[in-house]
Formats: sequence, C-alpha cells, structure tokens
Amino acid sequence: MKDEVLAKTQYDEFRSFLEEACGIVLGENKHYLVTSRLNRLTQEFSFQSISAMLDTLKLGTNKVLKERIIDAMTTNETSWFRDNYPYEILRHELLPTMAKRKLGALRIWSAACSTGQEAYSISMTISEYQIANPGALPGFIEIVGTDISPTVLKIARDGIYDEINVMRGLSQERRERYFTHENGKWTLRPAIKNLARFADLNLLSSYGLLGRFDIIFCRNVLIYFSTDSKTDILNRMAKVLNPGGILILGGSESPTGYSPYFEMIRFPQGVIYKLKEGS
Ligand SMILES: C[S@@+](CC[C@H](N)C(=O)[O-])C[C@H]1O[C@@H](n2cnc3c(N)ncnc32)[C@H](O)[C@@H]1O
Repeated sequence: MKDEVLAKTQYDEFRSFLEEACGIVLGENKHYLVTSRLNRLTQEFSFQSISAMLDTLKLGTNKVLKERIIDAMTTNETSWFRDNYPYEILRHELLPTMAKRKLGALRIWSAACSTGQEAYSISMTISEYQIANPGALPGFIEIVGTDISPTVLKIARDGIYDEINVMRGLSQERRERYFTHENGKWTLRPAIKNLARFADLNLLSSYGLLGRFDIIFCRNVLIYFSTDSKTDILNRMAKVLNPGGILILGGSESPTGYSPYFEMIRFPQGVIYKLKEGS
C-alpha cells in the first residue's frame, strides 16, 4: 500500500485529539513524522487508509487503537540515573533530611516513568543509602511508577533489559550488583525490583487513588504539554505531596509561571522544588 499524506485539516484535527487525550502538543513541524507513524499503524491495524483509521478513532469505540496511537506519538526516551544530579541530591540531601524527620513511611512517585529506569535508579539510590546508614530510613518505603503507555509499563514491571538499554547510564559495578545476566538479557534482582510498583496513569486524569508522596519525580514529560496542562498537572501534584514534599523536574522544566505552590531550592548539583509551607 502506498503511504498516504495527511491533509492539513486532518493533521489539525489529529493534533486536537492528541492534546485532549494525553496533553501532548504537536508542533506544525511534526506533520511528516506524524504522517509516517500513522501510515505504519494503518498497516498494522489493516485499515484501507489513514482517513479510515482516524474515522474509527473518532467513534471512540476502539480502545486498543487509541492506546496504540497515543503510544506511537509519545517519546519514551530514558536512561539509568538520567542527568545524575537528581540522584546525587536524593542521596546527599533528601534522604538524610527524610531520615532526620523520622517519618513512618517514605513514598516516591516516578510520574511518566517510561520503561522503569527512573524508578529503579531511585530504588538503587535508596538501597545504597540504607547500606551506608542502616535503620535510618522508615521501615515502609514505596516507589510508584506510572505512565500512560501499557507497552513501556510492561517492560518496567518485568524489570528485564537488553544489553543496549542496560549500558545506558549504569556502571559495570551496578550492573553486576543489581542484575542477573543470561543470553543478553539483564534481569533486576528482587531487592531492587520489589521496592517499586507500577500503574497505568494518564497525567491528565485524577491522582486520587495514588495516595500521598514525599517526593515526586516528573521528568522530561511536561515539555510536551500545553501551558494549561502544565498548570493543571503541577497544581494537582502539589495536592498529593506531604508537607515539605519535593518535586524534581527535568533539566529544562520548571513550575515557575505555571504553579504558585513550589519554591526553588538550589544545590551545587542542581535545582529542585519544594512545596511551599501552607500549600
Ligand atoms: C521522555 S519519557 C521520560 C521518562 C523518564 N521520566 C525520564 O526522564 O527518563 C516521557 C514519558 O511520558 C509518558 N507520557 C506522555 N504523556 C503522558 C501522559 N499524559 N500521562 C502519563 N504519561 C505520559 C510517555 O509514555 C513516556 O514514557
């Protein structure tokens, strides 16, 4: 089948669908990329044309199609200890503070966790801190990873990575300490895996079932969203943070101008955000 070019009106309609469904705003310059991804899905789902597929999408009855289309439009790029500084701050600043506060529990949310590297890097950092400071952290520790994409969540839940993925950001020492290795597959050991659990969650939907958190990692996803979605997400994240709670965003993201509930904290390693008192 010959690839079909998406008409401008169809592209604009598709952009509105995607923004409403998951918050992602597609620029004008993504027309070609979107068309080629939609052509692939047209073949995968055996539609006659992109138009036929988008007509079915509009009916709202094919949940699998909607999920796959959102999946194909999202960027799942991630790596172990991405940017390093959030994990340095966690180890040297946040965990010691949490330890001093003698909390009954420590809960961390990895929002938009992709294939799990962020959640498991947090888990490794906590495990290393516990070995160096036995008994300092609460007995109950939980990391909750969420994402809109069932495909990435399956990889996160399985905790099995290939050679290429396990190399991105992990030292040889950590690879050997935290994984078993067989036939090119690296499987996370239970001690690291069991600190984290994963759930399906669209950041535009309610956070009511998640409970409250001491720290939220929401990295490298807000950049794709509109001003209104950023504001809405950040304000609702403030509501699920415990007093003194911490928000860690991607290097090019900030709540400034979107949400009044956070203050910036500068460490030599980088910048994080703290829930303002009384928020
Ligand atoms: C670039 S990855 C970031 C992964 C990780 N936080 C990091 O910094 O390495 C962005 C993730 O956001 C997810 N995502 C996009 N829109 C979302 C939404 N509306 N709700 C939840 N997750 C979303 C994508 O599926 C993708 O896995």
